[in-house]
Amino acid sequence: MNSHTLLAKTIHWTFSVLYAYGIFKQVEDLDELEDATLLNFEIIFAVIFLVIVMLRFFYMKDAKTLLGAHEEMHKGHLFIAKATHRLVYFSLVMLPTTGLLIAGIFKADIPGMGIAIALHEFSAFLSYITIGVHVAASLYSRYKGEGIWNAMVPVWQESKKNESKFVSTLETIENKVYDQIEDRLIK
Ligand code: HEM
Ligand code: HEM
Repeated sequence: MNSHTLLAKTIHWTFSVLYAYGIFKQVEDLDELEDATLLNFEIIFAVIFLVIVMLRFFYMKDAKTLLGAHEEMHKGHLFIAKATHRLVYFSLVMLPTTGLLIAGIFKADIPGMGIAIALHEFSAFLSYITIGVHVAASLYSRYKGEGIWNAMVPVWQESKKNESKFVSTLETIENKVYDQIEDRLIK
């Protein structure tokens, strides 16, 4: 059975915790940055976050997408999986970068704060959407028992392919969608 490397899994799950932490302890509004300790902490957190995202991106760049799949994956399927992963990375780079931009503008006391905050909020929004799609797709794949889940998630492992009639109907529909994607976007 193909599986992502131990390092790939470790980074994926360490990073998920870091992301959740970043989202939950988020700064509520600009006034909080008057507190120099908090401001410095935010800056250090953002830098560490950014460095780990970049390292992870370069480490995972050449790993096969949907590596755990038992069957050959449709090109259209790989295309949307890769596109989603790229959008996740994009939002994860934008979050700390625009956070650092806020910090820079705040410290230097220069104009542009409105735009920086708008970009920061947009990055947060994009991360909710793309990671939401990512987690939903992972759960869906687990339901179908494709093997992809087992390659990255060490808990609640799937045992075998779901052979139900419902799943095969879903797969027929999916394949039509993937064909369309292949015709329109890949060729
Ligand atoms: C319950 C939560 C999650 C589940 C079940 C999950 C599941 C998975 C699975 C099964 C893969 C492997 C896909 C493949 O083989 O191509 C994967 C990869 C990936 N996941 Fe998640 N994931 C979760 C949370 C997250 C979070 C919170 C992030 C971002 C902060 C994230 C970002 C990624 C990225 C970018 C990849 C592509 C490979 C990599 O660069 O590590 N995931 N995830
Ligand atoms: C990895 C680092 C960071 C993450 C994950 C993060 C995440 C978030 C999130 C999710 C929000 C809420 C956005 C919304 O309302 O939709 C937020 C708001 C905010 N963040 Fe960050 N942030 C990070 C770094 C920073 C840094 C370095 C600063 C500045 C020192 C900063 C300053 C702010 C401010 C001022 C707000 C409130 C914006 C408002 O007035 O609505 N953030 N952040």
